Amino acid sequence: MAIKFNTTHAEEFVSAADIKALEAQAVNAMNTLHNKTGEGSDYLGWVSLPTDYDKEEFDRIKKAAEFIKDNADVLIVIGIGGSYLGARAVIEALKSPNYNSLKKDTPDIYFIGNSISPQSLNEIISICEGKDICVNVISKSGTTTEPAIAFRVFRDMVNSRYSPEEASKRIFCTTDKAKGTLKKLADTEGYETFVVPDDVGGRYSVLTAVGLLPIAVAGIDIDALMSGARNAQNELNGTDVESNIALKYAAVRNAFYNRGTKLECFVSYEPCMAMFNEWLKQLFAESEGKDGKGLFPVSCIFSTDLHSLGQYIQESGSSLMFETVIKFNKPQSDFLITEQEGNIDGLNFLAGKTMSFVNEKARQGTLLAHTDGGVGNLVIECEDITEDTIGYLIYFFEKVCAISGYVLGVNPFNQPGVESYKKNMFALLGKPGYEKEKESLENRLGIC
Ligand code: PA5
Repeated sequence: MAIKFNTTHAEEFVSAADIKALEAQAVNAMNTLHNKTGEGSDYLGWVSLPTDYDKEEFDRIKKAAEFIKDNADVLIVIGIGGSYLGARAVIEALKSPNYNSLKKDTPDIYFIGNSISPQSLNEIISICEGKDICVNVISKSGTTTEPAIAFRVFRDMVNSRYSPEEASKRIFCTTDKAKGTLKKLADTEGYETFVVPDDVGGRYSVLTAVGLLPIAVAGIDIDALMSGARNAQNELNGTDVESNIALKYAAVRNAFYNRGTKLECFVSYEPCMAMFNEWLKQLFAESEGKDGKGLFPVSCIFSTDLHSLGQYIQESGSSLMFETVIKFNKPQSDFLITEQEGNIDGLNFLAGKTMSFVNEKARQGTLLAHTDGGVGNLVIECEDITEDTIGYLIYFFEKVCAISGYVLGVNPFNQPGVESYKKNMFALLGKPGYEKEKESLENRLGIC
């Protein structure tokens, strides 16, 4: 198994009996998932995705990535939520948060359409000046406002720089196989399209073309990523709670929730995991946060945040949060601290030690301090930060989330709450069909 799950430092906060009872519920929830008899069962394509993915499309993704690498200085990736976070999380974890500044033989990658900020848009437009660009627009519905506006801008940019024939080769659309504005536009303009499968929701879609095309352009081995996920698919199937750690984790986090804990804080000691934490937050918040239920997912990068949020966490008491720490035994690279003559900074006691050793001591010290302060710690231990491990982690968390959601008693595959702000925004912007709502909303806002 690529990862280990350790509950030792949570056991003083949740009782063994509570966990045991929830383990039985987790097994039932997993059976519901496997038998496709639960709520949202139309969205279970991700369960077998690592083995059942479309091989022909997978080859086309690799070819498209090669074309982009050969022909673009910059790839613009347009998408929001599940159509954005997974790709960025994997690229930052496996390459770097500073990917664009690294010396490399792959294009820079910029993500846009994940906000409505004019400043962000203008920045990327100016970065693209004088550069050869390709665009990958990703939207399952094909109608989401943020990416739709960004695509209008970058489609214009491509059209103004290249011949119609060349322009159509530089735009790649990842969307529904048949419906939506984006699919219609792609077919009309002759853009290459990739499919977001009907039975895979946005936040479970990173291992489809949604994530795989940008990830492949960054030079990441997508075969190894899928292979890691496949290992997880094969290993996280059994009903024995000790060997199927997805069951164990789903049970323990529900035990925390049932005793009144409000937050789950995803923690890593590697800054390259910050976006992975963002992906986790979306996965759990959109899956579990409904019907007034669910742990609120938050995240930290330590030791950075020990110098900001650490104080609050340490003294928050025992019912605000527990931490789920993703620990890597081997960093992507290490650094040896050397002896300095005179020892003016007093650090010679660390000479001969590596930075990863110091980082691990920070983790151990924090674990003990936070558990002393009442904050339980779950530890997910990974050997290294490689394609295999990240693929495994993605599938592991998706499966935990689905099982955990069923244990909680919610449909982990819908997101009704995401729609409310969208409707209000459409009305306030004067979208046809929303006239009545516009008037009432403007009255509430005091707009004459
Ligand atoms: O996970 C989800 O379903 C959402 O976060 C969507 O991915 C997000 O709203 C973007 O939707 P779309 O891909 O349809 O543009």
